[in-house]
Amino acid sequence: MTSNQALALLGGLTPSQFMKRHWQKKPLLVRNAIADFKPCIGRSELVALAAQEGVESRLIVDSPKGWRMKHGPLGKRSLPPFAQKKWTFLVQGVDLHHDGAHALLQQFRFVPDARLDDVMISYASDGGGVGPHFDSYDVFLLQAHGQRRWRIGRQKDLSLVPGLPLKILQNFEAEEEFVLNPGDMLYLPPKYAHDGIAEGECMTWSIGFRSPQQGELARELLLGLADEAFEDLGDAVYRDPRQPAVDHPAAIPADLGVFARQVVDKALKNPQLMDSLLGEYLTEPKSSVWFAPSEVPPDLSLGVRLDRGSKMMYDQQQLFINGESFKVGGQDARLLRQLADERGLSAASCRKLSPSAQEAVLDWLSAAWLLPLEVPI
Ligand code: SIN
Ligand code: CO
Repeated sequence: MTSNQALALLGGLTPSQFMKRHWQKKPLLVRNAIADFKPCIGRSELVALAAQEGVESRLIVDSPKGWRMKHGPLGKRSLPPFAQKKWTFLVQGVDLHHDGAHALLQQFRFVPDARLDDVMISYASDGGGVGPHFDSYDVFLLQAHGQRRWRIGRQKDLSLVPGLPLKILQNFEAEEEFVLNPGDMLYLPPKYAHDGIAEGECMTWSIGFRSPQQGELARELLLGLADEAFEDLGDAVYRDPRQPAVDHPAAIPADLGVFARQVVDKALKNPQLMDSLLGEYLTEPKSSVWFAPSEVPPDLSLGVRLDRGSKMMYDQQQLFINGESFKVGGQDARLLRQLADERGLSAASCRKLSPSAQEAVLDWLSAAWLLPLEVPI
């Protein structure tokens, strides 16, 4: 896929056109985004996934007594019968558990990996949905099975119904309405109000994104900077040979304030460290992901691919994998960036890596961050 290739997935737009015209700006309805789309996960498989420990799931029921929500794991007996109307269950991060969902997510890598989040799948009985709401992030809503009626609008009034277990808009005003069939897809930018109601049993796949929140990112980076600063700046102490005698001993000396600002400035003046912390933060695996270290001695003879749960990204100087950073250059940088972009590296390319880069790749294989390639590339 290149950014200038027209895609049926985007209604004939190229990724560049889509990003310019729609991304974070306005909705796009694509009929037949994936022709003959047949979901590779059926109802019973999704029910089984929702029952699993370590898989994030929710049950939402629109009952005569009002909205009810239950967090998973959802044992079979916690789900109402499918003949009962107006309920839905949603499973987050299906791409981490299922190759087909992971493969679908790859089609959306015209958006940087740093922004891509997961595939969520919902299954609803007739009339089911999560109510009129808005999300803080962009989303592609791909109809997978049955039909869903979407009502959408640029909502100004974002006030929510108080006291509910889920976020429901108080005064939702729809401006447009579409019924989606399997393979149809609707893109919505953040904060665009929407309400999707199942018409008969219905499965919808949501390709979701993430975006660092200012406060959270600042805290993460500053915590990392704080640890480094403690190591780097050392134990040189504040000195005040010119401190005059004082009549107000409780007053903090102004020079001590200057000293404090200087040490914080010093701690912040390390752009490389900031970049390392950012890459490490962005590639931190999701909390539900764990890797079962391999028992067989690692080897590169088949080539390697990233495990579904592994995150690998890079910047100008460094390479990041699952929360760790590595400084690389030359041919190693080129090949390992290829591994990150293509999520796989052939045996021939592995052989071209320097001995130290090969050692790192073998370590990642042992940790099961990488797996041997089954289909050679
Ligand atoms: C759903 O699939 O029911 C909800 C998806 C969404 O509205 O974001
Ligand atoms: Co939504």
